[in-house]
Amino acid sequence: MGSTETTTKDKILIFGGTGYIGKYMVKASISLGHKTYVYARPISEKTSLSKLQLHKEFQSLSVIIVQGELDEHEKLVSVIREVDVVISALAYPQVLDQFKIIDAIKVAGNIKRFLPSDFGCEEDRVKPLPPFDNFLEKKRRIRRAIEAAGIPYT
Ligand SMILES: NC(=O)c1ccc[n+]([C@@H]2O[C@H](COP(=O)([O-])OP(=O)(O)OC[C@H]3O[C@@H](n4cnc5c(N)ncnc54)[C@H](OP(=O)(O)O)[C@@H]3O)[C@@H](O)[C@H]2O)c1
Repeated sequence: MGSTETTTKDKILIFGGTGYIGKYMVKASISLGHKTYVYARPISEKTSLSKLQLHKEFQSLSVIIVQGELDEHEKLVSVIREVDVVISALAYPQVLDQFKIIDAIKVAGNIKRFLPSDFGCEEDRVKPLPPFDNFLEKKRRIRRAIEAAGIPYT
């Protein structure tokens, strides 16, 4: 029976995939056999050499890089419709920009699971001093919006 079983691997879209944490996720996703997409800001004359090299490395690994801004709603919806799982590893200053991803996931309506950029402490269980709590409050707002939209999340 085993040899005739077929498994369809989820297709994964990663925001912030060229970042400190994101690049490891992209490589892990590829190595686990998932068709992997990265939504990244467009290459320009300001793009660093290291980021250009990372784009080339991703392309050599068959990562599909979609260049776009987070404000491009229609583009976001269309790439989200091609995948099953969305992971955000956006930088801290872009935490609230994830509302744009949530809006697009709601319109697309096909996402099985969303992992917001939330790779630190558990913000619903800690109450740190105000400066750090202000930062965590942004992540809490994102989590509440995901819950309100009924999007399965981790
Ligand atoms: N780094 C750490 O030590 C650390 C520790 C604990 C938790 N975290 C958490 O992990 C998450 C990711 O952090 P990170 O350090 O990996 O992030 P990062 O490397 O600073 O940035 C991640 C990606 O965010 C995108 N980005 C940056 N500026 C942007 C802008 N102005 N507009 C749109 N996109 C922009 C970039 O993607 P493109 O260039 O591809 O568009 C970038 O590669 C955050 O939630 C952070 O709080 C990080």
